[in-house]
Amino acid sequence: MAGKMWAGRFTKEIDERVNDFNSSISFDARMYKQDIEGSVAHATMLGECGIIPLEESKAIIKGLKGILKDIDNGELHFDPAAEDVHMFIEAELTSRLGNTGKRLHTARSRNDQVALDIRMNLKVEIKEIENLVSELITTLVNLAEKNLTTVMPGYTHLQRAQPITFAHHLMAYAQMLLRDLGRLEDTYKRTNIMPLGSGALASTTYPIDRQRVCDLLGFDEITQNSLDGVSDRDFCIELASAISILMMHLSRFSEEIVLWCSWEFKFIELDDAYATGSSIMPQKKNPDITELIRGKTGRVYGDLTTLLTMMKGLSLAYNKDMQEDKEAIFDAVDTVKLCLTTFIPMIETMKVLPDNMRNAAAKGFINATDCADYLVKKGLPFRDAYKITGTLVHTCIEKNLTLETLPMEEYMALCESFDEDVYDAISLETCVMQRKAYGGPAPESVKAQIEYTRKKLAE
Ligand code: ARG
Repeated sequence: MAGKMWAGRFTKEIDERVNDFNSSISFDARMYKQDIEGSVAHATMLGECGIIPLEESKAIIKGLKGILKDIDNGELHFDPAAEDVHMFIEAELTSRLGNTGKRLHTARSRNDQVALDIRMNLKVEIKEIENLVSELITTLVNLAEKNLTTVMPGYTHLQRAQPITFAHHLMAYAQMLLRDLGRLEDTYKRTNIMPLGSGALASTTYPIDRQRVCDLLGFDEITQNSLDGVSDRDFCIELASAISILMMHLSRFSEEIVLWCSWEFKFIELDDAYATGSSIMPQKKNPDITELIRGKTGRVYGDLTTLLTMMKGLSLAYNKDMQEDKEAIFDAVDTVKLCLTTFIPMIETMKVLPDNMRNAAAKGFINATDCADYLVKKGLPFRDAYKITGTLVHTCIEKNLTLETLPMEEYMALCESFDEDVYDAISLETCVMQRKAYGGPAPESVKAQIEYTRKKLAE
């Protein structure tokens, strides 16, 4: 590519391999809207401050808007040989406006320009991710509302532990996702700070008005230190880490769905539109979406590690290493959006199978704690009640019975405190209904959770 912008200092043209190696346009072109919007604000300020003539500022703005329109319409294509989106747009402007176009880069460096573009771009992305997370929470809340009395086994160590409801289980994920929303909002605050005016590293001698650019672009405030302004990528790392945690939640949920739609559990059935078949086994219906989400979680963790490692040894201020920020953060953003966009309708359309959940809850002695609690209410110390119940469970296993079907004589033989009312106390419905402490699975408690979650979402 003949005629580099820095041609004055050089006596040779760049080696083509170096040019390709150096180029970021294949992955930073996606910031063209923000690059142009940022340049429009910069040119406006330059004109208003008398740094460039007002008419030229107006011509630049018009030229930039024309470029934006042409890219949007597909009339202008990115030149893959351009070094980056910033150089491409500036060169295009100059080819359209001649000398006037060359005034745009006054009092600016690509270092503050790229920092601005990424922040503007990620602000849009964060809002999109937030909307998707909110949508997923709403989906879970609505499904929970329909399953307030759907009894299922709760697990620890993947062993049946105590009875809960499907609503309660779903709402656990809603709480995780609410925290994810909080982390995204927090990241947004620190992304919403305007770095332009930091220059290459030491700001500028021109009488610029940074606050004006900040207001024009809708940022909260301006960066305080020009060295930090060009070399801070904390906001990318924060976003990648918020997304990593979010992916970890989606991955845990996915793992449960993989289990739930297996014949071993059969708690749910995925809609045919959200499952896949096998090329050889005619009976198969596979939960590919959830497996891919589980798999892609590793990829997003990789993006976070890329960013952390990229930054850890960098001296102030800008270093070219930082060009590597974009592929990593954009990959994290694209991946989580893709996952959420597929996951939400999959959850919305899956069929819940309450009878199978109820049957699973009826096995595995998940009411044993309640049996012990029954004896405690009759006056026994918990440890004694625990031991008696353990013995009862042992008897049941030997005789292939459950606590519900174990005859009264067996109960009485072990402890005189048992009475007919034990059967009611250990019924799964009672076990769930009685767990009405705030945060528990009783329908009234889950209703309160749902209300809380809806209120938080509306905020
Ligand atoms: N493409 C570059 C990046 O993404 C823009 C900044 C270039 N700055 C420089 N001093 N070479 O980081």
